[in-house]
Amino acid sequence: MCILCRMGAHSMKTQVAIIGGGPSGLLLSQLLHVRGIDSVVLERKTKDYVLGRIRAGVLERGMLDLMREAGVADRMEKEGHAHDGTLISYGDEMFRVDFTEHTGHAVMVYGQTEVTRDLYEAREAAGGAIEFNVEDVVINDADSDAPFVSYTVVGQARRIDCDFVAGCDGFHGVSRNTIPDDVRREYEKVYPFGWLGILSETPPVNPELIYANSDRGFALCSMRNENLSRYYIQCSLSDSPNDWSDTAFWNELKRRIPTDQADKLVTGPSIEKSIAPLRSFVTEPMRWGRLFLCGDAAHIVPPTGAKGLNTAASDVHYLYNGLRDFYENNSTAGIDSYSQKALARVWKAERFSWWFSSLLHRYPDQTTFDHRIQVAELEFLRASKAAQKAMAENYVGLPY
Ligand code: PHB
Repeated sequence: MCILCRMGAHSMKTQVAIIGGGPSGLLLSQLLHVRGIDSVVLERKTKDYVLGRIRAGVLERGMLDLMREAGVADRMEKEGHAHDGTLISYGDEMFRVDFTEHTGHAVMVYGQTEVTRDLYEAREAAGGAIEFNVEDVVINDADSDAPFVSYTVVGQARRIDCDFVAGCDGFHGVSRNTIPDDVRREYEKVYPFGWLGILSETPPVNPELIYANSDRGFALCSMRNENLSRYYIQCSLSDSPNDWSDTAFWNELKRRIPTDQADKLVTGPSIEKSIAPLRSFVTEPMRWGRLFLCGDAAHIVPPTGAKGLNTAASDVHYLYNGLRDFYENNSTAGIDSYSQKALARVWKAERFSWWFSSLLHRYPDQTTFDHRIQVAELEFLRASKAAQKAMAENYVGLPY
């Protein structure tokens, strides 16, 4: 008998223990449920905390398909907005990249918070096990055939025995560090600026997103719906949201987007204001024994291009199919190729996010030569259908 059980610890058994109750953990849990595979989700925070996190709001077609397969797409189909293209500006110049023309696909504007809300609702309706406020999570014996997860809830020790562990617990979670140092390799690039973002109950300045390169730095005009806008400006890493009054934010945004857009911008009080640093990060491998990393636990992208949740979704797709293969066909082929397949796609999303960030931001050490190259690249993208097609293919999401 294990030490926890001798101590009277509460113990459970499931097929897949999922660490992290954000969108990727919940999506995996819901997909497995549809196929009759049992899971338990452990979340460090409360549900309200998870739903309070504001993240990007553009979903790739692969993510839409997964939401449909998980049976959680109804509200998204009703309330989300399909976008067939996006605008890119530099100074007062602006051009459009048409996704549908170049790829036959659109993207869906629907907030990550709403995706998470829909997934919680579905898990709760199905009686899915989600434990909140868990502490001291340890993934044990991941390199054996009998892994188990130990943790505490309000001081009480608990244990889950399982076949597999999915580490969906983000960059600061315990899963990644469970992989021993001599197995794990990490690759990182930190960008010398952040994004100051606000949410405001105002109509979006334009029906499609505008990615703006300006002499004063990057800006992005995005949205959630007809009366909820999301705007960002590149800021210094030493800034704090309190340094920026709403008026200062709006004035700076107006200076960074084309004049005709600035003239029609409707401003209002911010209902959320925060700063996010920008980072590219990948850990390899994404599997160790019976532990599989998904999403931010294994990789981070800068937000330019909204690849964070979408890349987590492609991990979930590979893992879900690998687990199905295991339980339905008694085959380990899918889980054995998980890390290699997931990473092949992750690196392409890393490349795109890095490229799109490099194209649009002002770097503190940027020379006039670097700036001329940036403008040449923007003009090439504006003029070349081939360049637009490559951009559109990446933006709508590479095939799984
Ligand atoms: C957002 O709406 O928050 C958003 C949209 C597109 C991006 C990044 C963030 O590239």
